[in-house]
Amino acid sequence: MDNHLAQPKVLAQRYIWIAVALALLVVAIIFGIYFSRVSDPYILNVLSMKGDRDRGSAIFQINCAGCHGSQADGNVGPSLRDISKHKSKIRLIDQVISGKTPPMPKFQPRTQDMADLLSYLEKI
Ligand code: HEC
Repeated sequence: MDNHLAQPKVLAQRYIWIAVALALLVVAIIFGIYFSRVSDPYILNVLSMKGDRDRGSAIFQINCAGCHGSQADGNVGPSLRDISKHKSKIRLIDQVISGKTPPMPKFQPRTQDMADLLSYLEKI
């Protein structure tokens, strides 16, 4: 009699453990990706620098405004207004240097230029 009742309980416990293990795995993967980016020396360097927003704005006009609009309000590329509310600094840097969303090209700015650009992107 007891066996009938105990079985589903044991099964349920097993599923809970599997769910916990999967959740831990997902967390570990997310942290892994995050730390592999944070430990990228280029990104670390950029994050440690103080950006100059005016220089960043000039860099934006030359390299980015053609696609994203001179007011960063979008053209071929999407509007970048309030972009820092949706994307972290690391993801913004990654977007500029990775070239993984064509037609946006892969840029290789010097770290100071990237820091300046970042300070502009954070205040548009
Ligand atoms: C040749 C056109 C082009 C140029 C030049 C360009 N971009 Fe883009 N950019 C795009 C397109 C198209 C997308 C959308 C890509 C996608 O998500 O598929 C994009 C996406 C982005 C995004 C992500 C937007 C979002 O909502 O997630 C950011 C940030 C960005 N660009 C910044 C820049 C910066 C900074 C520069 C200059 C250094 C630049 N882009 C130059 C075309 C361009």
